Amino acid sequence: MKQNNIIEVNHLKVSFDEREVLKDVSFSVSQGDVTVILGGSGSGKSTILKHLLGLFPVEAGVVNLLDQDIATLEEKNELDFYLKLGVFYQNGALLNSLTVGDNVALPLEQHTDLPPRLIEEMVRTKLNLVNLEDAYYLYPSQLSGGMLKRAALARAIILDPPLLFCDEPGAGLDPVSLAALDELILKLRDQLGMTVVMVTHEVSSILRIADKILFVEDGVIGFDGTLSSARKSSLPSLKDFFTVGTGGKKG
Ligand SMILES: Nc1ncnc2c1ncn2[C@@H]1O[C@H](COP(=O)(O)OP(=O)(O)OP(=O)(O)O)[C@@H](O)[C@H]1O
Ligand SMILES: [Mg+2]
Repeated sequence: MKQNNIIEVNHLKVSFDEREVLKDVSFSVSQGDVTVILGGSGSGKSTILKHLLGLFPVEAGVVNLLDQDIATLEEKNELDFYLKLGVFYQNGALLNSLTVGDNVALPLEQHTDLPPRLIEEMVRTKLNLVNLEDAYYLYPSQLSGGMLKRAALARAIILDPPLLFCDEPGAGLDPVSLAALDELILKLRDQLGMTVVMVTHEVSSILRIADKILFVEDGVIGFDGTLSSARKSSLPSLKDFFTVGTGGKKG
């Protein structure tokens, strides 16, 4: 694995019911970058994320994360390995019967033997980070949509994962809440050194946070490069993405 690469995917192929969704996908992700996976609906973005997360077995190709080929991961090391991967889904629902504090504490309670006092301190630190310091005793039903997302984000990062995966985290948020969520993601990158891989359709978000763009089309990575090179790309489908997404304005 190349130094500084925290993810390397080589020749990943995925078929569902004999239909080839990913034909030959190769890319790498550098440590400390926010990488955005772009592509049309059904192009296979979530499928890529799910393979990175080990939710499906790798049938063909190699998926290497944190210097580990996930196909050769030993069962006894699986839990420790996957706990290093933070996950934040668009419907990353919290449990309604638990307070925000207890929701965020769950992974610590399930996977560590830390004393309650320390767990509470760690939860409060993360709630501060996502600007929800006053929500510790609130229930999910008492939070706004943006607050719910930030609470789910706090839970996703409670174990300080070096890698965070997000699938459309901003879906359904108003522009102000979306910008706040983006700012948080940048904070995770800049203050905690987290590497973030995100699927999103929100062009405003992409322009704010993406270091690198991976564009999925026809089962392959049709574009792989920096945000600024993506904006200058002559690839028609990628161009459309940016022009349609910004209402036709070129900025
Ligand atoms: N578990 C599965 N079984 C069968 N087909 C699947 C499965 N998961 C995904 N697919 C198919 O694979 C293709 C890619 O799906 P995927 O969810 O990765 O798309 P996507 O790029 O994330 O789309 P969207 O932007 O709409 O979320 C789709 O045609 C989908 O129907
Ligand atoms: Mg998807």
